[in-house]
Amino acid sequence: MEKIVKVNGMTFVPFIEEAEIRKQVSRVASEIRRDYEGKTPLFLCVLNGAFVFAADLLRETGMNESEISFVRYKSYEGTGSTGNVKQLIGLPDDIEGKDVIIIEDIVDTGLTAEKMVADLREKNPASVGFVTLLHKPVSSKTGFKPDYVAFEIDPRFIIGYGLDLDGKVRNLRDIYVIKED
Ligand code: IMP
Ligand code: MG
Repeated sequence: MEKIVKVNGMTFVPFIEEAEIRKQVSRVASEIRRDYEGKTPLFLCVLNGAFVFAADLLRETGMNESEISFVRYKSYEGTGSTGNVKQLIGLPDDIEGKDVIIIEDIVDTGLTAEKMVADLREKNPASVGFVTLLHKPVSSKTGFKPDYVAFEIDPRFIIGYGLDLDGKVRNLRDIYVIKED
């Protein structure tokens, strides 16, 4: 694991290693497999941040009959939430009657999650589940509770494994946290 990552004049230090990510992704995948036995869920990956997690999670579930689709929402600029959630790519049309599982990279204020679930319910799915790689419960402004969480973390800004700083560093295999000094 590289020791330090510098991007946009900020310094990040190692936080969660690739091996630990793999372990927790696998745990969450088995929970979903158990809970959705006999069903064929439609996974809905939230772009851009969740694409890496979604790729690993979907393969770990071993659920060959499940499908995946993509939506895009944006609420962050730099290292903070703007409080304004924009939908950039809309929901697919074929949601009605399906067991949908939203895949997110991180739930911070919960504003994005609440908006997505509300938008989704308008399309009459059979059920809505929510899985997130990371959850910052202390930052919640909504009380939103994801059904499946790989890691609960303190409210500090993190990057890597799909998570970005202004579009950069999504490629990193490990997760890094901002260095505060
Ligand atoms: P929320 O609406 O405040 O819950 O924010 C959710 C979105 O903000 C996530 O989907 C991420 O795109 C982004 N976000 C929140 N915290 C972080 C972070 O620590 N690093 C990178 N992106 C983040
Ligand atoms: Mg996101």
